[in-house]
Amino acid sequence: MPDPTIPDRSMRDTAQPTVMSEPRDPNRVVVFDTTLRDGEQAPGIAYSVSEKIEIAEQLRRLGVDIIEAGFPVASPGDFAGVEAIASIVKGAGVAALCRTREEDVACAWDAIKKAERPRLHVFISTSPIHREKKLRMTQAEVLAETARATAQARSYTADVEFSAEDATRTELDFLIDVFAAAIENGATTINVPDTVGFVMPQEFVAILDALRARVPGGDAVTWSVHCHDDLGLATANSMAAVRSGARQVEVCVNGVGERAGNTALEEVVMALRTHAPTLGLTTAVDTREIARTSRLVSMLSGYPVQPNKAVIGANAFSHESGIHQHGVLMERTTYEIMNPADIGLAGNRIVLGKHSGRHAFVEAITTLGFPLEGPALDGAFARFKELADKKASFTDEDLTALATEGSAEDAAMGGGVWSFQWLAVAGGTDTAPKATVRLSREGETAEADGTGDGMIDAACNAVAKAVGVDAALLSFQVAAVTSGSDAVGDVAVQVEVAGQRVNARGVSTDVVEASARAFLHAINKVLGGTAVRQRVDKP
Ligand code: KIV
Ligand code: ZN
Repeated sequence: MPDPTIPDRSMRDTAQPTVMSEPRDPNRVVVFDTTLRDGEQAPGIAYSVSEKIEIAEQLRRLGVDIIEAGFPVASPGDFAGVEAIASIVKGAGVAALCRTREEDVACAWDAIKKAERPRLHVFISTSPIHREKKLRMTQAEVLAETARATAQARSYTADVEFSAEDATRTELDFLIDVFAAAIENGATTINVPDTVGFVMPQEFVAILDALRARVPGGDAVTWSVHCHDDLGLATANSMAAVRSGARQVEVCVNGVGERAGNTALEEVVMALRTHAPTLGLTTAVDTREIARTSRLVSMLSGYPVQPNKAVIGANAFSHESGIHQHGVLMERTTYEIMNPADIGLAGNRIVLGKHSGRHAFVEAITTLGFPLEGPALDGAFARFKELADKKASFTDEDLTALATEGSAEDAAMGGGVWSFQWLAVAGGTDTAPKATVRLSREGETAEADGTGDGMIDAACNAVAKAVGVDAALLSFQVAAVTSGSDAVGDVAVQVEVAGQRVNARGVSTDVVEASARAFLHAINKVLGGTAVRQRVDKP
């Protein structure tokens, strides 16, 4: 039986070498964003195809050089997401990850072949522990796989990246042989991952210096690093690597990623910018898009940004102590090494209210980077009007939450999905929580009661009953988008709907209603067919 995740190889294009011939600026650091691949491997994150496209479009606006769109062989949803980004998102390179297996490489190429600048990213584990316990391969077998798969990738495209997984725990002489084989067979970028976040900056520099000096052909490729944050050293390691000559950094927005996460894009980019006078290095990132990108990824991933997070945390530019406040008022640079305007935080704050019309709404959300149209715009505008009755003013954070919550996507899905009408809840310390909800779909209405362990549980149970599906709330997170008693609550849920796990968000000035909306949106994603099945096989 053919594997449904592996498209028919007869559909593959013949090899068409592309790009990579322009001379490289020695001071230019390539930003390779893997928010949609390694970032999506963080527990609980599973973007729908439309969310992936939304993030990829914003990454392009941000100015990253390469968007790693996914791992196509992992699931049909991954394949569809990568293929859609490759076809739609122009102006940035699009990479797909693959293991060295022949069918993986072919599948990854099928997914990205329509990209303006496709890149195949081939990897295999090289460390003794991975070779012996995970791959059960000898050094000779790993070398042979590296050579074969890189040559196969190069037969499809001239832009081939090779990664040695767990490179920093690999015997140096063997790592040199592996990278030499990859280069000999056509790799143009050599990536050195610190897969388990183990290495220290000085050791990393020693490894990179040795590789660059000793790998045959090493002077003709771009050296790249990919760091994980298990010891909180990902940014320090990436910066040390760049200082020692690496010219590609692999990063994720907000530092999301497997386990403790990947190197945070915003940290490396702003460190390079802040130290530009001494380092003399540049990126193509428009740093004024950083805050907006961070918000979008936080909203769609359901991963809030910690308040004290470097660069993009809510407190990164707040000054509490009197001495600091005084200093900043006299001269901002007494306590600020970066200008908040440079990451898109200050000035230009959009404030809308209940008297604002559709035109102002469209202009505001378009300026924020959400050019909604058609039914998605109708859905978002209708929600804006509903919320404007309860909330005096909308900042850009509120509008971002609105533009990215479920109602816009539900509206875009058309008639097959349910929309939220109203919710009533009752309960107290000594009374069992009870909720009643009314939903509608194409002129049909459905009303149901639900009980539960709390108001939120009761509301979600009522929604599931009204729709008539088997759905259970697996996880729940609430964040206040802005402060104040009429703050918008942004709820991110993970729901199991008919055996499928789905992430969704809902916003409202009332947290129980936001939860019910998020829960309904998760169900709609399954009914509307836009849900992405959680992957089973991760690199
Ligand atoms: O962490 C890692 O080693 C990876 C590779 C697949 C590049 O993500
Ligand atoms: Zn990784």
